[in-house]
Amino acid sequence: MTSQPEINRIGIIGAGLMGVGIAQVAASAGLAVALSDISLERAQAGLGTIRKQLDRQVSKGALSADAADATLARITPVVGLDAFAEADFVIEAATENVPIKLDLLGRLKPVLRADALLASNTSSISITMLAAATDRPDRFIGMHFFNPVPVMKLVELIPGSRPRTQRSPPCAGWPSGWARR
Ligand SMILES: NC(=O)c1ccc[n+]([C@@H]2O[C@H](COP(=O)([O-])OP(=O)(O)OC[C@H]3O[C@@H](n4cnc5c(N)ncnc54)[C@H](O)[C@@H]3O)[C@@H](O)[C@H]2O)c1
Repeated sequence: MTSQPEINRIGIIGAGLMGVGIAQVAASAGLAVALSDISLERAQAGLGTIRKQLDRQVSKGALSADAADATLARITPVVGLDAFAEADFVIEAATENVPIKLDLLGRLKPVLRADALLASNTSSISITMLAAATDRPDRFIGMHFFNPVPVMKLVELIPGSRPRTQRSPPCAGWPSGWARR
C-alpha cells in the first residue's frame, strides 16, 4: 500500500441514520464533509438532522453556538458522486443492499483521486466482495460505526480477505482517529 494521504476532505454516501452520524462526527473533528444522497432534498434533510442534534447540545450547554455553526458550515449536502473528486476519503453508508453498493462502488471509479481511501459502513455484506468491486482493493476497508455514531466511540475496521500477493490495508495506520475520538 502506498502512503496514506492526509485526511481533510471526506465524502459520505447516504444521509440516513448512519451517514448523518458519521458526517456530524467528521465535521466536529474539523473535516470538510460532502454528504450525498439520492436527492438534494434528502441530503439537506440530513444536514437538518445534524443541526437539531447540535442545537440540543448548545441548549444543554455542552457546545458553544459558535462551535455548532462552524461544524454545520463544514458540511455540504450534495447529490450524486461528482463532489467526491477532491475527497481524501469516502465512506459509503447507503442502504444495506448489495446491488446499490456495487453500483455506487462502480460509479466511484472514474470520480475518485488515485490516492483516495474508500470504506464501507456495511453491517453484513462481505468486505472482500465489495473490495473486489472497487478499483482500489488495497485502499478499501470496512469501517463499521455503531448507532448513535456521535455517542458510540467504537469503530470496527475490517480489512477483508486478500490474495497472498496483495497486502491488507494496515488497519493500525488507517486514518480513523477522528472517528474513534
Ligand atoms: N442502522 C444501524 O444501526 C447501522 C449500524 C452500523 C452499520 N449500518 C450500515 O450503515 C449503512 C446505512 O444504514 P442506515 O441505517 O444509515 O440506513 P438508512 O436507511 O437510514 O439510510 C440509507 C441512506 O442511503 C441512501 N441511499 C440509497 N441509495 C443511495 C445511492 N445510490 N446514493 C446515495 N444515497 C443512497 C438512502 O436514500 C438513505 O438516505 C448500511 O450499510 C447499514 O448496514 C447500520
